[in-house]
Amino acid sequence: MKTNRIPCILFLLVAFFSFGQGQKDYKPTKENLEARKWFQEAKFGMFIHWGVYSILGDGEWVMNTQNIPIKAYEKLPTFFNPTGYDAEAWVKMAKDAGMKYITITSRHHDGFSMFDTKANNYDIVDGTPYGKDVLKQLADACHKEGIKLFFYYSLLDWHNDDYFPRGRTGNDIAGRGAGVWDNYIAFMKTQLTELLTNYGEIAGIWFDGHWDQKLWDGERFGALQVDWHYDEIYKLIHDLQPQCLIGNNHHLATIEGEDFQMFEKDLPGKNTTGFGTSASDIGKLPMEVCETINGSWGFNLQDRQHKSKEELIHYIVKAAGYGSNLLLNVGPMPNGKIQDEHQESLSEVGKWMKQNGATIYGTMAGPISPSEKMATTQKGKTIYLHILDGSQKVFLEDFGAKIKDVKLFSDQSKLTFQQNAFGLFLQVPQNKMDAVDTIVEITLR
Ligand code: GLC
Repeated sequence: MKTNRIPCILFLLVAFFSFGQGQKDYKPTKENLEARKWFQEAKFGMFIHWGVYSILGDGEWVMNTQNIPIKAYEKLPTFFNPTGYDAEAWVKMAKDAGMKYITITSRHHDGFSMFDTKANNYDIVDGTPYGKDVLKQLADACHKEGIKLFFYYSLLDWHNDDYFPRGRTGNDIAGRGAGVWDNYIAFMKTQLTELLTNYGEIAGIWFDGHWDQKLWDGERFGALQVDWHYDEIYKLIHDLQPQCLIGNNHHLATIEGEDFQMFEKDLPGKNTTGFGTSASDIGKLPMEVCETINGSWGFNLQDRQHKSKEELIHYIVKAAGYGSNLLLNVGPMPNGKIQDEHQESLSEVGKWMKQNGATIYGTMAGPISPSEKMATTQKGKTIYLHILDGSQKVFLEDFGAKIKDVKLFSDQSKLTFQQNAFGLFLQVPQNKMDAVDTIVEITLR
């Protein structure tokens, strides 16, 4: 035991230092603080994973999981022709689902840019028969419809030789060269400048792939082997568009310059995946949970794990119960369409949000932490109790706040309740129960 202690402490120190500086002395501008407030209240967004990988119908990691050599993968763009793509239709779909923003992959780990970049020729305009900038179309549609647009941006790149030293993934992909790290940083800066210059107002940049460069010390992943230059990158973004919110899917506590904290496939602090952010790393910034509508991010033909309407609604409610947004992912098909099952689910969720959105949008975390049974959200003196397990009788332990009245949210009918030193007991008549979520409105004095 003892012998391990010194290397362990050293490792922790190295891990700490090598995480890198964020944007030094970052003071969010007024616009940025307003954007954070907007974000916190928005509660629901659409994540879109779309790239040339969708052709293979095997998820966005297919280049790595099938170890497709660079030369072979480069054939994909030559027949990527999403003639069914209709940006307006996507934006309307998101809007009808009750979503307030869209986050789309501008470049994923495969290194292919879904926008007209001048940093290389490996992009949708220069490399596909389609030849049009899909992000530009989406940006125009979003701006027209009042939906905010975020760009997902991969830090990790299996195609670019300058992504060297390589990280933990993609090492069996044939044809990767050994370039120069600093050129890679310059490449990312060029692309980010393009993304924040040519597409109007961008609500945020969503980084992913940091973890690829974390070293394994035999016991755990910790120190980075590279400098991501977050200090310069975050500053560049905020200089170009001060309101632009920066988030990084590094699964750690946020660093200076980041404007929101994200949680991948987990409610804040749950870390059921094992690679997620731990509860002790949760800070004070606005939060966002991202999750898939089925089991995959990128289009996966064989994925049958489509989540039910109930599951999706419960996830929105629980995320809101933590004060967090839910960024719900769809992976469009190579023809540019979103599969029917997902369109249907989105429309069902939209109907629910239309009726019950007042208990979600603009709320903060309620007094009782979410569980399988229930979740609570709060807006001023109103607490919304979401009963998720069909219980007619609910006991809220230690609920001591003074109550004015208790009503059913749906029809505003009064509910009977008793409050004593142990908490609050309330009951909903059987015929007023909702199969998905029975919402009780508790007004405080
Ligand atoms: C992971 C995956 C990636 C996906 C992301 C979304 O980091 O590498 O494919 O884009 O999660 O949260």
